[in-house]
Amino acid sequence: MQDPRTIVITGGSSGIGAALARSYARPGRFLALTGREPERLQRVAEECRTAGATVEATVLDVCDREVLETWLTAIDRDHPLDLVIAIDRDHPLDLVIANAGVSAGTGSFGENAEQTRHILAVNVDGVVTTVLAATALMRPKRHGQVAIMSSLAAFRGFPGAPAYCASKAAVRVWGEALRGMVAKDGLTVSVICPGYVKSRMTAVNDFPMPFLMESDKAARIIQRGLATGKARIVFPRRLFACVWLLALLPPAWTDPLLKRLPEKPADHR
Ligand SMILES: NC(=O)c1ccc[n+]([C@@H]2O[C@H](COP(=O)([O-])OP(=O)(O)OC[C@H]3O[C@@H](n4cnc5c(N)ncnc54)[C@H](OP(=O)(O)O)[C@@H]3O)[C@@H](O)[C@H]2O)c1
Repeated sequence: MQDPRTIVITGGSSGIGAALARSYARPGRFLALTGREPERLQRVAEECRTAGATVEATVLDVCDREVLETWLTAIDRDHPLDLVIAIDRDHPLDLVIANAGVSAGTGSFGENAEQTRHILAVNVDGVVTTVLAATALMRPKRHGQVAIMSSLAAFRGFPGAPAYCASKAAVRVWGEALRGMVAKDGLTVSVICPGYVKSRMTAVNDFPMPFLMESDKAARIIQRGLATGKARIVFPRRLFACVWLLALLPPAWTDPLLKRLPEKPADHR
């Protein structure tokens, strides 16, 4: 969508989500941002207001289906909202970016059951809840775009992050299929697959991250891709080529190499 006016970004309080919020912020735009940590979220909201946007910043957990659905509905339909702030303007949804996500440290002890369930809950259930609620609101108007935050980790399972890779693969494939399904309703779905981007998520990695990118640059690439309704926004291309090749080769060839790759330090989310 060329010039979305009402934009929802889950996980807008940090990293790529915050960079996207800043890059979309300008007069005439309404940004609805979520995150779990109030201070971080308010800081980003203030930056966007300074750039001229109208901003609604709401602390919520994307795993809380009822709260998320109520919030999105309120933004879309101008319903009175009994959450944090009452929304008093009509903001039909133009673009919803299901970006909120987590990873976990797996170094030394591997991935435990709690980490696995938490990653799948936020990265899969949280995304599915956001996208289903958004498309249900957009469908009757035959208007709207949804973006799903996947990753280059979606193309091959890496031993250092099994649940993370699985979660990103699930939403990538789901989003690609959904794109075809909702096209007849006049809606667009785009899947975003970044490589390494500077954020709190990657700040804890103590290993070299090839082609590591600033979050503002990633946001510009994503915004350009969304403006043309691209099916898959994948970057950087050179890292994508490596991951693609790894996925094509037989596991018997690639497993020995992948087993030697470094892991995110334990105790990090
Ligand atoms: N950085 C990379 O290299 C990279 C690469 C590919 C894909 N991605 C994906 O990009 C997305 C953003 O990650 P990031 O790198 O920007 O990491 P980040 O700086 O840690 O940001 C994650 C965002 O998600 C929010 N969040 C996490 N769990 C949530 C929950 N249960 N409910 C609501 N919000 C929640 C966080 O809120 P709080 O601030 O309140 O914690 C934060 O705003 C993720 O989906 C990630 O998997 C990142």
